[in-house]
Amino acid sequence: MFSRYLVPILGLLLLCASTRGQDSKLNMLYKDPNQRMNICIKVLMDQTTLEEKIGQMAQIDRRAATPEIMRDYSIGNLLSGGGVCHVNRPQPRSRWIEKDLVKRIGAATALEARATGIPYVFTPCITVCRDPRWGRCYESYSEDPKIVQDMTEIIPGLQGNIPPNSPKGVLMLVETCAKHYVGDDGTTKGINMNNKVTNWHGLLSIHMPPYYNSIIKGVSTVMVSYSSLNEVKMHANRQLVTKFLKGTLRFRVMVPLNHTEFIDTLTSLVNNNFIPAGLMMLSEDIESSQRFGKEAVRKSLVLLKNGENADSPVLPLPNKASKILVAGSHANKLGFQCGVHPSTETSYSESPDEDFVKSNNFSYAVVVVGEPPYAESAGDNSNLTIPQQGLDTIKNVCGNVKCVVVLVSGRPLVIQPHLEHIDALVAAWLPGTEGNGVADVRFGDYGFNDKSSRTWFKTVDQLPMNVDDSHYDPLFPVGYGLTT
Ligand SMILES: *[C@@H]1O[C@H](CO)[C@@H](O)[C@H](O)[C@H]1NC(C)=O
Ligand SMILES: *[C@@H]1O[C@H](CO)[C@@H](O)[C@H](O)[C@H]1NC(C)=O
Ligand SMILES: *[C@@H]1O[C@H](CO)[C@@H](O)[C@H](O)[C@H]1NC(C)=O
Repeated sequence: MFSRYLVPILGLLLLCASTRGQDSKLNMLYKDPNQRMNICIKVLMDQTTLEEKIGQMAQIDRRAATPEIMRDYSIGNLLSGGGVCHVNRPQPRSRWIEKDLVKRIGAATALEARATGIPYVFTPCITVCRDPRWGRCYESYSEDPKIVQDMTEIIPGLQGNIPPNSPKGVLMLVETCAKHYVGDDGTTKGINMNNKVTNWHGLLSIHMPPYYNSIIKGVSTVMVSYSSLNEVKMHANRQLVTKFLKGTLRFRVMVPLNHTEFIDTLTSLVNNNFIPAGLMMLSEDIESSQRFGKEAVRKSLVLLKNGENADSPVLPLPNKASKILVAGSHANKLGFQCGVHPSTETSYSESPDEDFVKSNNFSYAVVVVGEPPYAESAGDNSNLTIPQQGLDTIKNVCGNVKCVVVLVSGRPLVIQPHLEHIDALVAAWLPGTEGNGVADVRFGDYGFNDKSSRTWFKTVDQLPMNVDDSHYDPLFPVGYGLTT
């Protein structure tokens, strides 16, 4: 019998070398939950063939997988992307958001992922987006490395805290993935997977810092970028991957607990108050999860304009009005029918013409426009304009009635030419599924508080232009945001 206590592996090897029965016991040692992790890894690795190791390192698309392929090639994991799992994942955007909220977003996301049977999430994206023309900019918390560093607090939220004196290392709610190592974010002209040109100082001062925080906080994996750095593909960059990430930063992959152990450990952590029991409700109670999503959305809205000056604010809107108009391509998705006084008549029109706006006696209008949905390279955009339909809606509505424009986008867009017609402007940062969070602040139930974590440029010719640049001349700087 193997003792419950740690046994030095060398002694064991000598002890067990003599008989076949003991050999097989040794081979199964890695399954002993009381064994030290590095011993388990060594025992398992020694029994793994080269083909199996290679297979284990591979990830294939779910649609390409068959039981035979999984078995014959010892495939390590499946990618199940594109709408299979809808985890409610609002993006916190700035350092002004409470750190506690960031952590709670992580914990809620982890529990929803686990509830759907997913033990590993490709998040957080700790990219420091330096050019909003890049389509994946919406995944980035900020152009300011300090803000992105603060946001790594989502990692202990997702993975769970390391319990004091834990004998087993890190408790994993889900495994996390810091990505994309490194310099995926400042590629030339914002083109996805393009080449990044920078020197060592630029790399270390802007793009690398969030990796330091992530590794200290125990991130389980790091994804290497498809982009190039000074013309060398990151996957072929031995200096940065092998020497710097694994050598200098001493990044080591963590091994998650198995599911039986996961449940037992989680239960004991809850019983011992390491994790509040209230949090457990999130995965069972969809309503509280939505409420929480709303809170996260509400707290990430940034108010960029509110009337001509502070003496004549437009927001919060009076919730008792005779008739209001809700318009725009993104309005329906945001649940804007909610939140008004029952006596208020609400008209909804996706793209109203001027005559319609003029001929109705609206008290005010809420226009919700923004970017079309996109992911990855499809989001690369060198003009960053609001689609024409949205611009027409702003012109037709805001030219004829007092209006609040809610801009739904993953990044700053060209807004300067339209600003004079807009009475109030709210940046809504792709608020995910809980659009009602937007309605909460519109009527003043809660105030606007957040600040922009990105620079709002005046024209795309200025790009790239970031907070620390000498040619910094923004429409709204990083840190801008009005309060109500
Ligand atoms: C998972 O851990 C439990 C408890 O430690 C153990 O009984 C079980 O055999 C383990 N399962 C696997 C698949 O390793
Ligand atoms: C328009 O609405 C206002 C109140 O919002 C009301 O005082 C006014 O009489 C209305 N005008 C018309 C033409 O209906
Ligand atoms: C801006 O770029 C996007 C993405 O390439 C394109 O779909 C759109 O038509 C462009 N808009 C204008 C006004 O050029």
